[in-house]
Amino acid sequence: MAGTGRYIGLMSGTSLDGVDGVAAEFSGDTPRILAHADLPLPADLRAELLALNTPGHDEIGRMSRAAQALADLYAEVVGRLLSHTGLTAADFRAIGAHGQTVRHRPDLGYTVQLNAPARLAERTGIAVVADLRSRDIAAGGQGAPLVPAFHAAVFGTDRPQAVVNLGGIANITLLSPSGVIGYDTGPANLLLDLWCHRHTGRSYDEDGRYAASGQVQDALLSELIASEPWLAEPPPKSTGRDLFNAPWLDRRLADWETRHGPVGAADVQATLLALTAETVAREIRRQMPDCQAAWICGGGARNPVLMSALGAALPCPVAPTDQAGIPAQQMEALAFAWLAHRHVQGEAGNLPAVTGAAGPRILGAYYPGQVR
Ligand SMILES: Nc1ncnc2c1ncn2[C@@H]1O[C@H](COP(=O)(O)OP(=O)(O)O)[C@@H](O)[C@H]1O
Ligand SMILES: [Mg+2]
Repeated sequence: MAGTGRYIGLMSGTSLDGVDGVAAEFSGDTPRILAHADLPLPADLRAELLALNTPGHDEIGRMSRAAQALADLYAEVVGRLLSHTGLTAADFRAIGAHGQTVRHRPDLGYTVQLNAPARLAERTGIAVVADLRSRDIAAGGQGAPLVPAFHAAVFGTDRPQAVVNLGGIANITLLSPSGVIGYDTGPANLLLDLWCHRHTGRSYDEDGRYAASGQVQDALLSELIASEPWLAEPPPKSTGRDLFNAPWLDRRLADWETRHGPVGAADVQATLLALTAETVAREIRRQMPDCQAAWICGGGARNPVLMSALGAALPCPVAPTDQAGIPAQQMEALAFAWLAHRHVQGEAGNLPAVTGAAGPRILGAYYPGQVR
């Protein structure tokens, strides 16, 4: 359908690094990016959101307060987008606001993204489309990944190509004339960030330098892959911090070191980077052996060591999505702007073949903007 309009997308993913915002104008499904803005999560909010991923005391009160703080940060990103574009609230149809995932259990029928959409609508004067995953889960789907439908709209399906999003978790979209597949493949930056922070004090491994200082431990890599049954499950599937977290890694490393002796911290970093590259690449090799190009987005696209590990593990050219016209850091936020657009148009945002839902569904709940 050929609706047009300006939308904002806001994404804060499992890496817990910050909020990415994109303002875009859509003509049908075709976006034109107007502006990008990002803000880091303040350390205290980041720590609280991370803590809320695990059961704890006074969760309801804490999650409500964290959601408000997050909405205020979202509103600040929106303010920057308005000033970058020189536009006003009235120029935008809606904001697609992902919220912060603190639980993702499609197997139990729920997913929880902390968000305060009424507060965001109140602060910005722009309508908000939020809670974009629940409807797909209610229809029997994974509620994730939601970006493949947008990848298909942007890249088309006339030749076999992959889009790989390297956020906290990695997800792939496989586009081809025979259809679209997409699912989470396993951990990406969340384990890299965790290990780097623990051993260097830095929140992430800038340009992969720490990983590059270590050696990939092939036997450990094989064991990490073999010991996690989720990695061998067929799609549709999605995951998050519920599975891949510090205890997941610590249990496996402790078990390994009991049998084989200590592993150097930089070697673990190198091995975790290889784990990301290999769990992504083996799915593309298996599902799409004739893949002609792998387009990489998300923060991992800025890690040259990870990019070259992917290049080595895949038989096709590997390049950041910037080279296809959409900056790697803006792809996910842009996808949520598109999902808001689809909601407003009354069109489905999910791909049942990807999420496993019973059918196409209009995603999200609408919080109106200002009275006109
Ligand atoms: N220059 C860089 N070198 C290595 N890693 C980077 C770089 N820039 C960003 N990253 C990684 O990207 C992550 C953020 O990616 P992002 O796509 O925002 O993930 P999410 O969607 O989970 O928030 C950071 O936590 C960091 O691990
Ligand atoms: Mg992020």
